[in-house]
Amino acid sequence: MSLFKKQKKTFDNLPTHIAIIMDGNGRWAKKRSLPRSAGHAAGSKTFKSIARYANKIGLKYLTVYAFSTENWKRPKEEVDNIMNILRDYLLDTDSFKNENIMLRFIGDLTVLDEDIKELIKKAEKDSSEATGLRVNIALNYGGRDEIVHAVRRIVESGIKPEKITEDTISENLYTHDIPDPDFIIRPSGEYRLSNYLIWQSAYAEYWFSDILWPDFKPKHLDMAIEDYNNRNRRYGGI
Ligand code: IPE
Ligand code: IPE
Ligand code: MG
Repeated sequence: MSLFKKQKKTFDNLPTHIAIIMDGNGRWAKKRSLPRSAGHAAGSKTFKSIARYANKIGLKYLTVYAFSTENWKRPKEEVDNIMNILRDYLLDTDSFKNENIMLRFIGDLTVLDEDIKELIKKAEKDSSEATGLRVNIALNYGGRDEIVHAVRRIVESGIKPEKITEDTISENLYTHDIPDPDFIIRPSGEYRLSNYLIWQSAYAEYWFSDILWPDFKPKHLDMAIEDYNNRNRRYGGI
């Protein structure tokens, strides 16, 4: 009975699109005297379980920040480790397919290793018919980089400057076929966007928490959504 009540509350006003900054893997590992790689492995598990749960509750879009354009600054060993976790994940996307989850990637994928690009293409193709949750993985993603790419495309199109509207920009972003995020979740105790979806988040609601990403559980998503339900989105109106 209580379970039913809890679920009912969650289903009442689900955001259409939730974006998550999956942060805190390194600190989670440090707290346990483990290498940072163990934190990234645990974070990857959390991602899978949260995506499954989001699909179960009927969410339409989930966009997760997996690797930013700034994360290349990290030691090569750590970058390689993150890319290897991604490889493992992409080799095992059958489970997602079985769950009717669509997988898409956003970011500048052109600089990634060839084998990863191939795996991404395959995962996107294999899941393209899914009708459940759409998961967007932001990889080598940066909001400013995305806007630069959009501006280049717009200029190349030869459009007259006076014809450029907000829609022109939106239509040329990596997220052109995804609605703007309603709700942005950042665990790990940081209060910033770190270059995530900076154009798209103009009117998003935010939820911050000290939980480190590997410790993030479906109940935390419930808590966040409950909070979202109490927000009054005015978009500049009254
Ligand atoms: C997020 O966790 C994962 C990536 C940025 C790839 P971090 O690795 O940033 O973890 P902290 O912030 O150091 O704890
Ligand atoms: C943001 O986390 C990027 C991802 C979670 C992929 P960071 O750990 O890179 O962000 P900063 O450096 O704390 O702002
Ligand atoms: Mg971090």
